[in-house]
Amino acid sequence: MGRFVRSRIVMLGPPGAGKGTQASALSERYGIEYISTGDVLRSNIARGTPDGLAAKRYVDSGELVPDDLVVRIVREHIEGMKGKGFILDGFPRTLAQAESLNEFAEIEVVLNITLPESEVVARLSGRRICSACGRIYNIHHTGERSTCECGGSLVRRGDDRPEVIRQRLETYERRTRPVIEYYRARGVLREVDGIGSIDDVFRRAISRLEEE
Ligand code: AP5
Repeated sequence: MGRFVRSRIVMLGPPGAGKGTQASALSERYGIEYISTGDVLRSNIARGTPDGLAAKRYVDSGELVPDDLVVRIVREHIEGMKGKGFILDGFPRTLAQAESLNEFAEIEVVLNITLPESEVVARLSGRRICSACGRIYNIHHTGERSTCECGGSLVRRGDDRPEVIRQRLETYERRTRPVIEYYRARGVLREVDGIGSIDDVFRRAISRLEEE
C-alpha cells in the first residue's frame, strides 16, 4: 500500500512542546525545507538587521512580533523555494497570519503537538541550543554539557527565563490557540500527543502524517 506523504505542513503546539525537535527531524525524513520563524527572528536579532531590531523587544519579552513582519519573512522564503515542500515551525501564530498564509500556500496538514503546562516549563528550563549549528539539547536527558557534537558552544535561549516563559504561555493561550480551531474547522488538523520520548513522539507524528 502506498504511503500518503504530505509536503506542505504546519507544526503547532505550545512553547516547549517539541515543535523544533520534531519539525527538523521530519524535514530530514521527507526531504522538505524546515522553516522556523523563531530561528529566523533570532538570527536577524543576532546580526542586528533592521528586521532583528524591529523584532527584538517582542522576542525578549515573550510577545508576538507584528504580523506584517513575520508574514513577509515567510512569504519571501516560500516564494523563493519554487514549489519545494516545507514544514513551518512557529507560524502561523495568529488568525491574521493564518489568513495571510492561505493567500500564498495551500497547507495540507497541521500537526498540533499537545503537552501539559508543567511539562512545558520543565523542558524549557533544561533546553540548551548549539550556537553554531542550532541543534537542540536538554540537560535533563544529556546531563550538563557545554559543547555540541559539532564543537559549537551550548547556550540557553534568552527567552527561556521563568518570567518570559510565563509570558510566552499566556501569549500562546490568548493569540495562538484560536489558530488550532481555525484549522480544525478546515479539516486539516491532526493532534499528536507530545508526552513520551522524542522517538515516541516522532513515530506518532509520522503515522499522523502518513495516514489518509
Ligand atoms: P519560537 O522560537 O517559535 O518559540 P516557541 O514557540 O516558544 O517554541 P520553542 O522553540 O520554545 O519550543 P519548541 O516547541 O520548538 O520545543 P523544542 O523542540 O525546542 O518563538 C520565539 C519567539 O519568536 C516568540 O515568543 C515570538 O516573540 C517570536 N515569534 C516566532 N514566530 C512568530 C510568529 N509566527 N509571529 C510572531 N512572533 C513570532 O523542545 C523544547 C525542549 O524540550 C528541548 O530542550 C528539547 O530537547 C526537549 N524535548 C523535546 N521533545 C521532548 C520529549 N519528547 N521529551 C523530553 N524532552 C523533549
